[in-house]
Amino acid sequence: MLKPETIRIIQSTVPVLEVYGNAITKRFYERMFAEHPELLNIFNHANQKQGRQQQALANAVYAAAKHIDRLEAILPAVKQIAHKHRSLGVKPEHYPIVGRHLLAAIKEVLGEAATDEIIAAWGEAYGMIAEAFIGVEQKMYEESVHQPGGWEGFRSFRVVKKVKESQPITSFYLVPADGGGPASFLPGQYISVRVQIPGSPYTHIRQYSLSDSPGKPYYRISVKKEEGEGNRPDGQVSVYLHDQIQEGDTLDLSAPAGEFVLEKEGEKPVVLISGGVGLTPMMSMLNSLVESNPGRKVTFLHAARSGEHHAFRQAVLETAAAHPQVSAYWCYSEPTDEDRDSRSFHKDGYVELDWLKAVVPAKEASFYVCGPVPFLQNVYAQLKEWGVADQDLHYEFFGPAASLEAP
Ligand code: HEM
Repeated sequence: MLKPETIRIIQSTVPVLEVYGNAITKRFYERMFAEHPELLNIFNHANQKQGRQQQALANAVYAAAKHIDRLEAILPAVKQIAHKHRSLGVKPEHYPIVGRHLLAAIKEVLGEAATDEIIAAWGEAYGMIAEAFIGVEQKMYEESVHQPGGWEGFRSFRVVKKVKESQPITSFYLVPADGGGPASFLPGQYISVRVQIPGSPYTHIRQYSLSDSPGKPYYRISVKKEEGEGNRPDGQVSVYLHDQIQEGDTLDLSAPAGEFVLEKEGEKPVVLISGGVGLTPMMSMLNSLVESNPGRKVTFLHAARSGEHHAFRQAVLETAAAHPQVSAYWCYSEPTDEDRDSRSFHKDGYVELDWLKAVVPAKEASFYVCGPVPFLQNVYAQLKEWGVADQDLHYEFFGPAASLEAP
């Protein structure tokens, strides 16, 4: 337990650190990578460049510090981050490294204002936060190793099939190269893929949702080729997977992780709403629901740029045709003439409340939403306006955790 005086110091300095948050974490990463370049094998370089990870880590440390006197209040947030850490292979011995460089960066940026007393208080607080993470992650490591088919760290999988699902999205079917079976998972979970790209000194790790239901002899991931636009560079890993990884090649995977999962129990209708490549976990949930919960009504809504960008359209149409409890609708923000002529075209534009009310049987349903941040902010706002209860709203967005509130 921290002394009351330490808690007081932490809580009174959080606002200051929030103001300097990005400067501190930027400096923190510079220092840490200079001393421990091997950590560049785990961190996402693209997120680093865009400053997204800086923000995520800063926010998490300050959120934790605000609740330092009752850390259990932030346990749900810790668990979500811990899943990511476990999937990446973050270990207890990494925490003191992060702590040391974070404190040094605070001292450096705040200068005189960061007295010895303040630094000592933050050192203690960081120690407590780190302990909470390490404890949760330790349990996750044990669970993932001990479950049937589970494994530790990264395991080699062979690409047995590569299928183009839409203009930007390609699926990879992966089976363990050691001849064993893959571990089970919960629909909505993701795996980490680690690749060594020729010419790059570090390994690169990315998370991809599993896009088919559990219980198959393979894992399927469906990857969008991220082509650069304006200041945004090409997605190094997705381009490598699309262009260089062929059937017969192997990829290193860590065991399934993640908290954005379908709640199997319950009778409530399920509404799956996705934007772009956010449909990958929805495909897993949809397939799993029709296979193991045929009594449950499912509405599948998808927003894509156009028919060309719409993955799994045929598969979802077939599922809806074969299962009367499933209905599926989509909207395109940039439909082509061909799309408009197509029998399965539903709506021009974006997800809007009137449309939701027209196609979703009732707001008393379990809603699962996944897609890029602006898409999610829009859908979240519509569902809140409709009056969907908080406990019925499940969502996941791409990239490091950020706020759902409109900027
Ligand atoms: C991701 C917080 C310690 C490595 C994250 C995220 C948060 C976070 C909020 C984003 C989660 C998401 O994407 O949903 C923290 C806090 C820590 C801590 C509060 C200390 C108490 C560490 C340590 C390491 C580490 C010790 C390893 C050296 C990473 C990596 C990612 C990550 C590699 C993914 C980042 C990316 O892909 O850019 N962490 N973290 N973290 N964390 Fe931590």
